[in-house]
Amino acid sequence: MSISCKRLVLSLISGLIMTSFTPLISAADTGIISVETAHVSLVFRITAEKQLEQLYFGEKLIDAEELVQLKKKHKPDTDRQYMLEAYTASGNRFVSQPALIAHHHDGNMSTELVFVSADQVMHDDNVSETIIHLKDRFYDFFVDLHFKSYYKEDVISQWVTYMHDEPTDVDLVQFYSAYLPVHSTQYYLTHFHGFWAGEMQLTEEKLQPGTKVVESIKGVRTTQSDNPSFLLSLDGELKEDHGEVIGGAVAWTGNFRMSFELDYQNILNVLLGMNPYNSRYTLPAGKTFHTPEVILTYSIRGAGQVSRNLHAWARKYNLYHGDDVRPVVLNSWEGAYFSFDEAVLEQMMTDAAEIGVEMFVLDDGWFGNKYPRNNDNAGLGDWQVNREKLLRGINHLADFANARGMQFGLWIEPEMVNPKSELFEQHPEWVVQQPNRELYLWRNQLLLDLTNPAVQDFIYNTVDSILTAVPNIAYLKWDANRHVENAGSTYLDPQKQTHFWIEYTKGLYDVYERIRSKYPGILIQACASGGGRLDFGSLKYHDEFWPSDNTDPLKRIRIQYATNLIYPPIATASHVSTSPNHQTNQVTPLKFRFDVAMTGRLGLELQPKDLDSEEKTFAASAISDYKKIRETIQHGDLHRLYSPYDEHGWSGQMCLSPDQSEAVVFIFSLTHHNRGDLPVIKLKGLDPGASYNVTELNKNNESFWGNNREFTGDYLMKTGMNVNVSNRYESAVFRLTLSGKVK
Ligand code: GLA
Repeated sequence: MSISCKRLVLSLISGLIMTSFTPLISAADTGIISVETAHVSLVFRITAEKQLEQLYFGEKLIDAEELVQLKKKHKPDTDRQYMLEAYTASGNRFVSQPALIAHHHDGNMSTELVFVSADQVMHDDNVSETIIHLKDRFYDFFVDLHFKSYYKEDVISQWVTYMHDEPTDVDLVQFYSAYLPVHSTQYYLTHFHGFWAGEMQLTEEKLQPGTKVVESIKGVRTTQSDNPSFLLSLDGELKEDHGEVIGGAVAWTGNFRMSFELDYQNILNVLLGMNPYNSRYTLPAGKTFHTPEVILTYSIRGAGQVSRNLHAWARKYNLYHGDDVRPVVLNSWEGAYFSFDEAVLEQMMTDAAEIGVEMFVLDDGWFGNKYPRNNDNAGLGDWQVNREKLLRGINHLADFANARGMQFGLWIEPEMVNPKSELFEQHPEWVVQQPNRELYLWRNQLLLDLTNPAVQDFIYNTVDSILTAVPNIAYLKWDANRHVENAGSTYLDPQKQTHFWIEYTKGLYDVYERIRSKYPGILIQACASGGGRLDFGSLKYHDEFWPSDNTDPLKRIRIQYATNLIYPPIATASHVSTSPNHQTNQVTPLKFRFDVAMTGRLGLELQPKDLDSEEKTFAASAISDYKKIRETIQHGDLHRLYSPYDEHGWSGQMCLSPDQSEAVVFIFSLTHHNRGDLPVIKLKGLDPGASYNVTELNKNNESFWGNNREFTGDYLMKTGMNVNVSNRYESAVFRLTLSGKVK
């Protein structure tokens, strides 16, 4: 098929799918293509040689067309003019890592992309999509760059598709979703590193010449050690309320790679996407390969605005049920672990309902008969109710919860299997494995091979049968407690073993698609040992995530602070657990634990009968107050006031309703401060001309002299609140309500 024929076919295909795409550019145009949001411009230019050049990404330009006259100041390296391509491919002039490496049918390892055409469509009054069609100068190899602009949220998402019509297969070796060249004086990269029970630890570093890589090759539970998200501060260290900051994330629940290569011209070459690690992908003619989406935002107003952009975008366009408020949950794990029967759970539910809990979630341990799940050694894979523990089944428990005004949720870990299980006895071939290699256990379990459609069906049918048998299950906690080892599949052909990593994640998404299309109403939590599946690809199917198995409030403050730099508080499941804490053995006041948990989606993770009556009263009152303020916490704008990563020893934040009529302010003392050394909490984002009533919640002792008084927004933002929170584990929560306009 000739080039022009092929393009026609492509246009027809896109015409069938989205009829409203209109050509964006013709030969007579200036050659400028601009993708815009309310405050950001991303601009490309088509060169005389028909290459696509990336000219600009940053604060919105009044007239992007003006860039047509831009002459690059860089000295030419070759006889061609120096330029930064929009999407770099291997093999010709480019000196840093390319976004694309394709091996063509004749063995040619290079690709030379030229501009063909561009289309744009308005999906609605806020979202538009630009597609730039590129093609190899010689081969019938087509690359489409997709940019989706979310105007109000200042977010641009980007992904790429490849397709070819070469005589035989093309091998894709490197396939990033985005290449972003950034030019500034210095670059400070904030990224998130962690480990089990200590996920999402914020690290900021000044980038030096060479390449900094943040990646995962774990395949599953990919985000336990590093998260596919970052903040890049230009010209200086990251500041909360000012400075140029790019925020980005890879929306992919598999191996990811983000590389930041600072070259000799002090240009930072950023590559974002799937990790090419051991993942050569064979693409037959006529088939399309999609890279995952990369989410980008930018602000001149520091990290704070970047987070708010990402949160607003996630609530509206990413997260499941992003418009709803989340219920207060009690999860049985730390309260009962594997030791329960009907009576224990009934007691827990009765007590939980009494203090105002709205959703009871039964965690691990409810299944397996031949190999009962009484510890983590056995039973995974056998998703039948354990008859000894739960005589009347899950239906009885769900009805019991409903009768007490609560909804009911259940834990599952359907991608996994214990060798001690009926499932493993029946289907050893379903396990991820390599020929002639010993199987490695992790938490006594193995991973099911989601590249195999039979396994996908098994997982879908497992979830479907549970939800059909117990229609009043309203919530699933979806766990995944190991990563990939022994990467390999009995299902994939020997020559296609390198497809394993990508096909696993695609298989997982297919299962989620099927579950979500049948059960759109159900709430699903992404768990993965805590923090292991925290990415925008996964959140597309989830309502929330469990940030960490570490419920120690002091640890959670740091984890959640960093988490909420990227991901929104509404999705951050944050539970009050018992004291001493089961992970750290630290003793903390109940108030401190509640105050911390109230910064996200409040829940409990304890045995409620162990609370004494004073604690029960406190818990009931805190839960009732949370219900009054949760709309603001879950849907408001987050403003950070004090960072727990700074040396001053406080952490503070506030959430503000979009109409500025209501705010919730939190302050925590993380260490002992000298007598009289009190935080001055200067609030942000309020209406300076309005007056606000300040009420302290979860009070033990009053910590603010101005409790129940009125202050102007101006006063609260400039003078601030001096609050008596200075000893380790002291904290305060305030609700501000608009009481009127001051002229
Ligand atoms: C993982 C989860 C916990 C709990 C246990 C159950 O560790 O992170 O919250 O569900 O599994 O085995």
